Amino acid sequence: MSKKTYYITTPIYYPSAKLHIGHALTTVMADTMTRYKRMQGYDTYFLTGSDEHGLKIERSARAAGKTPQEYVDEIVAGFQYLWKRLDISHDDFIRTTEERHQKVVQHIFRKIYEKGDIYLSSYEGWYCTPCEAFFTERQVGENRLCPDCQRPVELVQEESYFFKMSQYQDRLLKFIEENPDFIQPVSRRNEMINFIKGGLEDLCISRTTFNWGVPVPINEKHVIYVWFDALTNYISALGYGSENDESYQKYWPADVHLVGKDIVRFHTVIWPTILMAAEIPLPKQVFGHGWLLLESGKMSKSKGNVVDPIELIEKYGAAAIRYYLLREIPLGMDGYYSEDSLIKKINTDLANGYGNLVSRTVAMIEKYFGGIVPAPQGVEGEYDQELLRLAETTPQEAAGYYEKLDFANALATVWRLINRANKYIDETMPWALAKDPARKERLGTVLYNLLETIRLVTVMLTPAMPEIPPLVWAQIGADPAQNETWEATQWGQTRTGQQVTKGAALFPRIDVKERQAADASGAQGEKTTTPEAHAAPGAKAKEQAGENAHEITIEDFAKIDLRVAEVIACEKVENTEKLLKLEIKLGAEVRTIVSGIAQHYTPEEMIGKKVIVVANLKPAKLRGILSQGMLLAASQGDTLEVLTLEKDLPTGSRVK
Ligand code: ME8
Ligand code: MG
Repeated sequence: MSKKTYYITTPIYYPSAKLHIGHALTTVMADTMTRYKRMQGYDTYFLTGSDEHGLKIERSARAAGKTPQEYVDEIVAGFQYLWKRLDISHDDFIRTTEERHQKVVQHIFRKIYEKGDIYLSSYEGWYCTPCEAFFTERQVGENRLCPDCQRPVELVQEESYFFKMSQYQDRLLKFIEENPDFIQPVSRRNEMINFIKGGLEDLCISRTTFNWGVPVPINEKHVIYVWFDALTNYISALGYGSENDESYQKYWPADVHLVGKDIVRFHTVIWPTILMAAEIPLPKQVFGHGWLLLESGKMSKSKGNVVDPIELIEKYGAAAIRYYLLREIPLGMDGYYSEDSLIKKINTDLANGYGNLVSRTVAMIEKYFGGIVPAPQGVEGEYDQELLRLAETTPQEAAGYYEKLDFANALATVWRLINRANKYIDETMPWALAKDPARKERLGTVLYNLLETIRLVTVMLTPAMPEIPPLVWAQIGADPAQNETWEATQWGQTRTGQQVTKGAALFPRIDVKERQAADASGAQGEKTTTPEAHAAPGAKAKEQAGENAHEITIEDFAKIDLRVAEVIACEKVENTEKLLKLEIKLGAEVRTIVSGIAQHYTPEEMIGKKVIVVANLKPAKLRGILSQGMLLAASQGDTLEVLTLEKDLPTGSRVK
């Protein structure tokens, strides 16, 4: 039997500006859902892309002194980089400027035209260019403002093709009524039903006053309206109407189009009526999520209050950003972003909650059982019962929330178990049990229960924070392959006798005061230009006092987490002579390191090198760039050489 399929899409984003953290919300949600469904055994397909045509883009390109194609190529490269940094696992990235897409748009236009549902007439009305949307006299009111974004609209008078959308009003209403899941959440469904009942007009679907679009196949003077063009991406990417439409046959209709609430109308009125006219089945669901707001309102370029996701990823890591976005925005509602609340979440939930549970448990198994996982000896008392009962019910409850795209509650459910486990440590007091040789078995049971809880919660949060599980499996000695599916949430799969190994803290605590100081000094420019810039404040003082010759113990040495890493990208830091900015791959993680080696190596020489880094060095900001670690290099006089590896060991390998 073939696997069940699951097809999910995000909107395709306008490359008219850099993406902000609000855009990342949609994509992180879709990625999390895809990973969850994959763990449940589905054959998934996840599509994202870019919406590159239209007057808005044409104007932005002109303002930037570029051709539209040059302009979009550059911005779209930035989108793709962002998705990589955020661990987004899309199967395809569709660009509306690609030929494979444009052919399908023209094919559908022609099909509907030949059927008689597209006609030529003239349009006279209002257009909002930022929203790429037409409005009636009544909708724009006396002040001539866009009812969606409140910006001034423009008067348009030109010959246009029209799509007979009005003819589909009754069929659309009937479809929405018969398919209660089609528009979610319910509040948006009711809003759309009222809108449609208010009457659908025919839709203007071509323009003649600019060129940056897909030509109307029957009339070269016209380009196709950007939304007609854009919405088609959901099937053009699957090869609809082409020689190879295998993916279309397999995955369409989509299980869900995930969109922000501002574009629900386009997806639940224009898109389904186009599909009806083209005789193509409708998607199963359009889900409209809320907005990520700032205290100062919705993020937008014109307001100048955008938050750059790359900056946040560099400061706090992709996992923390994903966690925050998923946990802070209640299902279907708006949420507020602030860096303070992000830091609070990182410290409370990730560092003190989850990270601490892992490090305490692993440390105790190392200390009391030489790092070998002890065997459990049965259930004892109410603490065990409570923990085990919760561990048994949590996977199903979390799955129920994931299924509904309710990530805030899915994660809250997982964290209830994490908090329960931390409380279990306080209740059972392993350090007290360790003092009594007669309680050794009991101590073993307690630590086994904790380790098994860690394994379960790690499996359950894999869809949300995919970069974390490999780090945890390495610490607790679990087999990654056995923890890839949701079935691994069954209690009791940790093997007695497996070896644990304490590693770097999963989520270092963020010190708010230090953070502010680091940001401030980063803004002033670099203070030191050598790798020593990273040394802890006390280290320099000790060295000067001649204390560096003192012997250290093996435990002191073990505090330094040295790892093999590969340089995957490298560039000079602008306006500096000595600094290179390196992107390094460290196991599943990609990090940025700033290193004072630019006078000894070119960026090209560094790319591809396997180097050794101090992985648990406290991050520091250099020239405004957060450097997460340090490269090892040897020097004598003017000569400096970065330490590299001769054999091909995997990145993340430990150096000791
Ligand atoms: O609308 N919070 O593209 P777009 C949450 N090209 N979501 C936000 C947000 C915020 N602050 N700001 C934007 C388009 N979004 C069209 C789509 S689909 C065939 C064509 C969301 O780049 C927004 O709601 O303006 C939308 O879902 C997505 O980002 C893309 O916005
Ligand atoms: Mg928009």
